[in-house]
Amino acid sequence: MFNKDFIFGCATASYQIEGSINKDGKVENIWDRFTKTPGKILDNSDGSVVCDSYIKYKDDCKILANLGVKAYRFSISWSRVIDESNKPNQKGLDYYINLCKELLKYNIKPYVTLYHWDMPMWLEDLGGFLNDDISNYFMHYTDVVTKALDGLVTDYITINEPQCIMFLGHNICNHAPGVKYNDKDMLHAIHNLLLCHGKAVKVIRENVKNSKIGFAPCSRPMIPTDINNKLLYEKCYKEYFNVNRDNEYANDVSIYSDPIFLGDYPKEYYEIFKDILPNIKKEDLELIHQPLDYIYQNIYSATFYSLDKSNNLVKEAFPFGYPEGNIDWLQVVPKALYYGPKYLYERYKLPIIISENGFCNNDIVSLDNKVHDPERIDYINRYLIELDRVSKEIPIKGYFYWSLFDNFEWSYGLKKRFGLVYIDYNTGKRIEKDSYFEYKKIIEKGGI
Ligand code: NOJ
Repeated sequence: MFNKDFIFGCATASYQIEGSINKDGKVENIWDRFTKTPGKILDNSDGSVVCDSYIKYKDDCKILANLGVKAYRFSISWSRVIDESNKPNQKGLDYYINLCKELLKYNIKPYVTLYHWDMPMWLEDLGGFLNDDISNYFMHYTDVVTKALDGLVTDYITINEPQCIMFLGHNICNHAPGVKYNDKDMLHAIHNLLLCHGKAVKVIRENVKNSKIGFAPCSRPMIPTDINNKLLYEKCYKEYFNVNRDNEYANDVSIYSDPIFLGDYPKEYYEIFKDILPNIKKEDLELIHQPLDYIYQNIYSATFYSLDKSNNLVKEAFPFGYPEGNIDWLQVVPKALYYGPKYLYERYKLPIIISENGFCNNDIVSLDNKVHDPERIDYINRYLIELDRVSKEIPIKGYFYWSLFDNFEWSYGLKKRFGLVYIDYNTGKRIEKDSYFEYKKIIEKGGI
């Protein structure tokens, strides 16, 4: 059982649910453009309708209220609220103002993500994260949003999963904008992204009374196969924060979180990238390293490790028959919610909120017109048991299930369903799945 004030919520993101991509002055963003390129999205779908939440937000709030969540995490679409001359678009802002008012009517606290991957296209054309002015544009956008939502929102998440922005968007390029960076540009862009975060924090603190701020990276914790082996635990911890100059460094944890929480990049970063370091000024590091309120983290899966005869860390295969979600990277490893928070707290020492965790399934509507998803129910229960366990050792403040709805799962399109609520994409009909009612019960009880 969690503490009385534990925050149960669920999460979504603008491009994944809103639709109405040309309405009320919204300008093009990188996903509007990317989805038009043939072959980029598995089922050729896009964000033009999806859950139609731009229109149906009042119904959505009712669904949230019936679920009993105290918190709803959603993101603001930059291209809806700022036009191509960098001026506020009031109609776009009104949507979020109305959404927040509607949520508050039901006592649901809005948790606002400022950047969930949908850069305005005109800014991408100006160089995106490689443009040294991007953090000033982001600061202006943050200023506009926080002023518009004054008195409605206190909780902000600056940036969602920087790893995916950089690794998927600029290395393997299966995400928008799909512009490949060389290593030097990658480090430069990561630094600019961290500056976006830092400048946004400054603006939020200035504009929002009693603000609570964080950013929401993702990670895939290393799970020791032998829970009693101290050396193995230490090596798993070290590996979790390790930086390697391999193809995947843009996916690392410490390259983003160390500057933000500890004030500088990890030591190894300076060594292994010494020939291509960006221009890192002391005042930039100070800006990036401002006090935050929480460690947010998106955690879905994990990888097992053991030690070989020479005490080297080795990756273990998943045991035969191990449960998997309907998406290639999602192996069901509940201990991810034990070890992930533990490592993070040990290094950064702030209360933790799981900003995303969820299960992807091939859900169908049964003959009884219901959606039976026992695998998701099992997933939620098993993961919350582990989160509950670690909450006895370190401060855990909340959990956001991803996602409220089935939605546009980026390059995978519409076929990958994570929702507690099924969306019939032909009719727009919403059907609460069995897992919705299970989560409702858990929330009512205050835990498992
Ligand atoms: C990570 C992202 O933040 C979200 O947009 C995505 O849909 C889920 N995890 C599932 O992949």
